[in-house]
Amino acid sequence: MELIKLFSVSCFLSSVLALGQAPIISFDDGPLQLAGGGTQATLVLATGDWKGVLRAGADLSADFGRVTGKNLTVKITEITTSDTSPSTGPVIIAGTIGKSKLIDSLISTGKIDVSKIRGQWESFQTQIVANPLSGLASALVIVGSDKRGSIYGIYDVSEQIGVSPWYWFADVASISRAKIFALGTPKVQGPPSIKYRGIFLNDEQPALTNWVKEKYGGYNSKFYVNVFELLLRLRANYLWPTMWDSMFNVDDTKNGPLADEYGIVMGTSHTEPLTRSSKEQSNYMSGNWDWASNKQNVIKFLTEGAKRSKPYEVLYTMGMRGNADTASPTLTAASLSDVIKSQQAILSSNINTNLSAIPQMWCLYKEVGGYYQDGLKAPDDITLLWSDDNNGNMQRLPLPSEVNRQAGAGVYYHFDYVGDPRNYKWINTISLEKTWEQMHLTYERGARQIWIVNVGDLKPLEIPINHFLDMAYDMSQYGEPKSTQTWLSKWATREFGSAVSDATASVVDRYGMYANRRKYELLDASIYSVVNYNEADTVLSQWKTLASDAQAVYDSLPSAFQPSFFEMVLHPCKAGYILHQLYVATAKNNLWAGQGRVNAADQGRIAVSAYAADSALASTYHKLLGGKWNHMMDQTHIGYTTWQQPASNSLPSLKWPAASTSKPPGVAIEGGNSKLELPSLNRYAKNRWIDIYSTSNSTATFKVESDTWIIATPSSGTLKAPGDTSDQRVLITIDWEKAPTGATTPKIKITAGTTVSTISLPIDSTQVPSTFHGHIESDKTIAIEPEHYTTSTSSSTASYMTIPMYGRTLSGLTLSPLSISTQTPPPPPSHLQHLHLHAGHSNDNHPPLALPKHRYLPSPRVRHRHRRRRPDQGTVRAGHEIGHAAEHVEREHEECGGEE
Ligand SMILES: *[C@@H]1O[C@H](CO)[C@@H](O)[C@H](O)[C@H]1NC(C)=O
Ligand SMILES: *[C@@H]1O[C@H](CO)[C@@H](O)[C@H](O)[C@H]1NC(C)=O
Ligand SMILES: *[C@@H]1O[C@H](CO)[C@@H](O)[C@H](O)[C@H]1NC(C)=O
Repeated sequence: MELIKLFSVSCFLSSVLALGQAPIISFDDGPLQLAGGGTQATLVLATGDWKGVLRAGADLSADFGRVTGKNLTVKITEITTSDTSPSTGPVIIAGTIGKSKLIDSLISTGKIDVSKIRGQWESFQTQIVANPLSGLASALVIVGSDKRGSIYGIYDVSEQIGVSPWYWFADVASISRAKIFALGTPKVQGPPSIKYRGIFLNDEQPALTNWVKEKYGGYNSKFYVNVFELLLRLRANYLWPTMWDSMFNVDDTKNGPLADEYGIVMGTSHTEPLTRSSKEQSNYMSGNWDWASNKQNVIKFLTEGAKRSKPYEVLYTMGMRGNADTASPTLTAASLSDVIKSQQAILSSNINTNLSAIPQMWCLYKEVGGYYQDGLKAPDDITLLWSDDNNGNMQRLPLPSEVNRQAGAGVYYHFDYVGDPRNYKWINTISLEKTWEQMHLTYERGARQIWIVNVGDLKPLEIPINHFLDMAYDMSQYGEPKSTQTWLSKWATREFGSAVSDATASVVDRYGMYANRRKYELLDASIYSVVNYNEADTVLSQWKTLASDAQAVYDSLPSAFQPSFFEMVLHPCKAGYILHQLYVATAKNNLWAGQGRVNAADQGRIAVSAYAADSALASTYHKLLGGKWNHMMDQTHIGYTTWQQPASNSLPSLKWPAASTSKPPGVAIEGGNSKLELPSLNRYAKNRWIDIYSTSNSTATFKVESDTWIIATPSSGTLKAPGDTSDQRVLITIDWEKAPTGATTPKIKITAGTTVSTISLPIDSTQVPSTFHGHIESDKTIAIEPEHYTTSTSSSTASYMTIPMYGRTLSGLTLSPLSISTQTPPPPPSHLQHLHLHAGHSNDNHPPLALPKHRYLPSPRVRHRHRRRRPDQGTVRAGHEIGHAAEHVEREHEECGGEE
């Protein structure tokens, strides 16, 4: 990797810390210099330590090389604190309690105190220790409580010297450093918030699979070691491997042992018990995958899985579903109980008679939750893995009666999904605020044993993956709604430097909001209105600004930083903009063609060129860095007609009307009312529009006539020959000082060529008192952003908090703390308010959380509503409002007699 020179002194002055974690490294000064000024540290590891720790040590050595140009010298020895230092220069000592003789001798001689981490899961401490070896004044010592504790401690240094966990998987460049110092403040990092934290590589055809085939020939260990390393650098520990057409333990027999050696706990998906993949079921099992008719063969098959996995650290998936990720037609709650009993018998006779010592998980996904609902009880030593609704909304979390289960609960979450009602698997559509809101809830409700997220092809979801795993590692950093913005800013600083971190964070934050409004696969020309509320144009202009903001940051970066910025930030912004261009132009083309507008052809051409730009952008991605990520954008995404992806992208249907030579010009109005009545206008709405358009290729003049206080811009002009400028949008505003009082409906006369149209415009000049503060109805609508409530009443136990950037337009509200029980609001106030939020007071009932029984669980409540511009701010759009905060506000709003 090319080393980057400091491209501007001010750019990277602030040190690049491990994301959200306490600093132990400085580039300016510190009591122990590790690199620079003619010195370079030696890394001392112990012969007896875990192979995975020694391997991570080699990574640390190479990471110093990435930053300083010179690798650390690595010494793997059996020395103890009484031996002479193997180096005359600075020394870093790393090792695991009980595995490293040197660490153990430092403990037994009282040179380090590990009482805070000893016996703890995945914990470490890093500190400067005096006289650790004979002839050595001090060394930086990294001590792990266990294998991964040491590995995370080592990678903590890697990240802090400036090597991103994504240095390879997203090509994040390192900044060259002249000097590296260790800080004097000791650091103790306790057990992670969530015990098993990981990702599920899934829905991997075509993108990941095509890429893997080209680069590695298949899902073998040459591919997987990259994933293992990435996960460990991200402080994760758990993986569900690909399973559509692969067999992790069979495709390459080194896969399983290497995962264990690296320190990754392997699992299998929710539908693959006892580490045997779905493809193994069809290839190696006698008879059908059916408990009712083929129990003995199923047991034999699963026993082989347990035996195979015995040497390794594994988290066993329990239970059973039908073939290939479907519901089984024969399983019942009773037979599933028998399945689990038999599986535990296999584990206790083959792995460990103490079942509590074997990590086990039963995923209550899709139809499986129904068995639980029917009364099936899982043994206490199996973790219950609750799932979201495939769209990021947790369906159920532990009830108070369930939080004390011995093996606890966890969550299976989706950033990518294949299935009914529609796949989403092209590029990132995740709102980090929504992830925060749901995972914070999950954490507060006590599901802390396992967090696993479906990440599709992995590659286009770098940012949501990093965010999810950072929360899983240390939720104490992410208790506040605004922690998402804080995280983004630190993430942007780590990947691209502080000079562009604000701009980058703002782009990524807006991107998540826009992309999450509607998954790309569910977009088409009918989604955003080109007639009402200027919705399509507003949405499109937001995307345009976003893409140009992203481009500006990209252009300002040194070239070595551009590939990673392109992959994680610029590409999705441009891809989203292009797709919205495609659908808005298609909508205009279709509508205008129906009106006989010659300019429909221009929109058709915009759509055609957006469609071409979409594949050109994918090809730019594929050519990046000499084709490193070829095929990663192979996913089809245009032309869905059912839940499943189309075989190829297809251009939406466009119309090309012939320019009639005889027809007169036409008129179309905002709102599309066929009786030519515009939506009403008052002092608090901006304007209305009228389109005057050509239906022929000849020139025509037009004029707009009305009362003097009705202002048309322009009020006359010429429809030129076909081309972009041939149609005219006339904006109508009112001079309210001269308009009649009260409500009237003036007429506007349009003469265009031989066409004469009369348009009516209901207006109301009523003015609210100057003391009024609030929201004003316009054209029968009031839309209020949740955070613009009039009053918010807290109780002794609860209050509302704003989640910035949550939802589709501005923010969301949620109750805090999340652990409160059902709240009953106080009696309504004696006067009407536009929006009144009650946090209520506590009672002892807990929320009844029903678990749906059906295979396809219901999607979140979707409400169609039209939104109007607030007089002072806000955007005009129509759409679907999803989210607790929005629902709550509407309910309160209705109770107060507002109209919606
Ligand atoms: C550092 O070590 C890595 C891994 O062994 C090696 O590929 C790289 O060339 C080394 N770099 C330098 C600067 O010696
Ligand atoms: C069984 O394993 C659990 C978890 O490791 C442990 O706490 C418990 O003491 C073990 N029980 C016996 C009887 O060894
Ligand atoms: C207008 O359209 C007619 C019929 O297609 C064509 O014959 C004529 O040349 C066009 N005129 C111009 C100015 O493009």
